[in-house]
Amino acid sequence: MLCLDLGDRDETLGWNAARNPKLRKGEGMSQKVIDLLNAARARELTAITQYMAQHYELEDRDFGKLASQMKEIAIQEMKHAEDLAERILYLRGEPTTKPDAGIKKGQEIGEMLSTDIALEQQAVKMYNEAAVVCSEEKDQISKRLFEKLLGEEEEHLNIFENLKDHIEKLGAPYLATLTGE
Ligand SMILES: [Fe+2]
Ligand SMILES: [Fe+2]
Repeated sequence: MLCLDLGDRDETLGWNAARNPKLRKGEGMSQKVIDLLNAARARELTAITQYMAQHYELEDRDFGKLASQMKEIAIQEMKHAEDLAERILYLRGEPTTKPDAGIKKGQEIGEMLSTDIALEQQAVKMYNEAAVVCSEEKDQISKRLFEKLLGEEEEHLNIFENLKDHIEKLGAPYLATLTGE
């Protein structure tokens, strides 16, 4: 726990101060929790970039239906990144703007889905662990946020696994159902 005595220097805290004027930097916040929220945000930024890239590639290849699904999930990840930023700001942290990994391009659909499954599995693991730490740090709001995200990542994981499974079992006839508008 940081304990900074900022005295009358509150104005140096900048625009974050507007988010929670009652909370001074270092007061009632856990740097550990802020770091976890930021690690999660970096992961979300990677997922957004990856799914949007896949969305464009799938559109190009005429898999419009699958492309729309990717876009929808990317938008959900954007909301996650924003929820995490709001919480980080409330705790007087600085939301990261950097994804935590590069993205893959030019993959076949099966490979794309494997990439996405891995991203979601990592997020599920990360958020499960983060929720436990938030509990230890007595930050129930951050814990609930991680639990909410966790539920949605599990849904994404389920969607990607089902798609991959159907493609493997049914092949071209199933792929044909993912084309068009
Ligand atoms: Fe997410
Ligand atoms: Fe996700």
